[in-house]
Amino acid sequence: MTALLEVSGLVSRYGQVAALQGLSFEVAEGEIVALLGSNGAGKTTALRTVSGLHRAHAGKVVFDGQDVSRLKAHKVVTLGMGHVPEGRRVFPALTVAENLLLGGYQRRRDRRAIQARREEIYEMFPRLGERRDQLAGLMSGGEQQMLAIGRALMHRPRLLALDEPTMGLAPQTAQRVLQVVRDIRDQGTTILIVEQNAHQTLRLADRAYVMETGRIVLDGPAAELAQDPRVKAAYLGGSV
Ligand SMILES: Nc1ncnc2c1ncn2[C@@H]1O[C@H](COP(=O)(O)OP(=O)(O)OP(=O)(O)O)[C@@H](O)[C@H]1O
Ligand SMILES: [Mg+2]
Repeated sequence: MTALLEVSGLVSRYGQVAALQGLSFEVAEGEIVALLGSNGAGKTTALRTVSGLHRAHAGKVVFDGQDVSRLKAHKVVTLGMGHVPEGRRVFPALTVAENLLLGGYQRRRDRRAIQARREEIYEMFPRLGERRDQLAGLMSGGEQQMLAIGRALMHRPRLLALDEPTMGLAPQTAQRVLQVVRDIRDQGTTILIVEQNAHQTLRLADRAYVMETGRIVLDGPAAELAQDPRVKAAYLGGSV
């Protein structure tokens, strides 16, 4: 198996705080891989470091055979890695259509291609098409999450990294978002998803890694992890 994404020995710090302490994992083309872990485990830092938003102190990120550890985020995007950050960051004062245009910024010289791609996004998310002229800030939480995902899809990423896309959503809406993630994979995009909602995520993912204090402590096929007593105790306990 040649990995589309290969992360090895990643160390990331915020000042004296070591948020990643030798993180290693890989994602094969076509997979849905989940990174699970409780608050502060380093999940967001992992995605930010992989996508070039945060500079690694040590270790390596290889994407599609190329070492991207030293590249800036906008360069990593052009190589085919999309990133939907934590907290559905849409531009509230811009319309749905304008938010999507911003997602296609690195291809701005080809306006027609961007507009064609936007139409494809509207087909994928009919709700966004119906509301294309509405201000993003007036959309529901679930709709804003769809918009954030749609924006990341504008440049046709080969790998889409999603940071807690169901956070703060009602259970039914969360289900819909996860179904969309599955559809995106079925259309050929590899998925790396970070979630605290282990229960639903393990049903969606092919494989999963469990993070604690900046490193992997468990990994395996998602169906096996869902049965693992350690995972059950820590992440699937009483609350579900
Ligand atoms: N900007 C920052 N400055 C200093 N420390 C930070 C910063 N961001 C994160 N940290 C620290 O790094 C560690 C990992 O944080 P991170 O946000 O990656 O965790 P997480 O797994 O995404 O948590 P959550 O589930 O709460 O989103 C934590 O100890 C956190 O306090
Ligand atoms: Mg986080």
